[in-house]
Amino acid sequence: MPAISVIYGKIIYVMSTVAELKAELKLLNAEYAKIKDVPAEKRADFGKQLNHKKQAIMQKIADAEAAAENNSVETLDITAPCDINGKQPEFLTADFGSKHPLMSEFDRVIAIYQSMGFDIMESRQLDDEFHMFDSLNFAKGHPARDGYDTFRTEEGFIPPAHTSTMQHRVLKAYKYKLDEGKAIAVAVPGRVYRNEDVDTTHEHTFYQCEGVYVSKTCTLGNMLGILREFFEKYYGQKLNIKTQPGYFPFTEPSLEFLIEKPKALGGKGGDWLEMLGCGMIHPNVLKMAGIDPVKYQGFAWGGGIDRLVMLRYGLTDVRYFESAKLDFLKEFTC
Ligand code: DAH
Repeated sequence: MPAISVIYGKIIYVMSTVAELKAELKLLNAEYAKIKDVPAEKRADFGKQLNHKKQAIMQKIADAEAAAENNSVETLDITAPCDINGKQPEFLTADFGSKHPLMSEFDRVIAIYQSMGFDIMESRQLDDEFHMFDSLNFAKGHPARDGYDTFRTEEGFIPPAHTSTMQHRVLKAYKYKLDEGKAIAVAVPGRVYRNEDVDTTHEHTFYQCEGVYVSKTCTLGNMLGILREFFEKYYGQKLNIKTQPGYFPFTEPSLEFLIEKPKALGGKGGDWLEMLGCGMIHPNVLKMAGIDPVKYQGFAWGGGIDRLVMLRYGLTDVRYFESAKLDFLKEFTC
């Protein structure tokens, strides 16, 4: 049976490896020794069944070896109907598989935030109007809602257009920390979706990481320290950073955070790249989550992971990530 795995939302059929099939064959061969213990009248049937199974496995081994030899892979049309119990086309054997580069980088991002004392909460694939907009202080009918190019299901659910949809949940779930005299420090990596035209820097599906920090005394200065630390750890070098004014209904003030493209990554000096949006959490956002904005204050940020990775590896087209182009993906196999 081919194993079926769902990787990053795409269905990939992975044929059992030749080694696995051979192990299966070995087990089957051991079954032949049992023939002598089977009652005489059932012996023929038992033998036939074993032979049948053996032939099937041998065929699969031959198929797998042939596929591995010519190493050609058919393009998988994931929208095409398929009979998952029927014969599957032969795709790469599991031996050729590797982790998607974005997922490896996702793990690095998580590890850095964890090393800085952040808890991690994963975002979700389907959310609602309240978490996407209302809980983030977007006034009803405010044009800023349109800026997020949201997809909607027929039932009115929203595949999140940013990881900020998790802010309200983070604040509510971690409020107890404030009662214990500690700070809320949570990072939320997740997949997000936008209904916008796709080009070299825009994808309909991409990844973001949100950060939320709340305590009695934290300041924008603390936030910039955290962000600098994160980016310097991620790129493994000292960086020049700056901010410029931005606008988000859920922060006041709102900022855009930029880094100067490092020389080691092709920077010529003076090319500033906007890496994320950030700011002090708006008092209304804290209030809606039951946190007293007079007693506590917080900051939050959110930025694309794809962009981060593209700069690290000098990639110029974001569409490669979702393209299932094996030539591209294999470059990241270690
Ligand atoms: N969610 C924003 C976006 O995708 C980015 C952002 C801005 C996140 C400010 C934040 C924030 O947490 O405080 O455009």
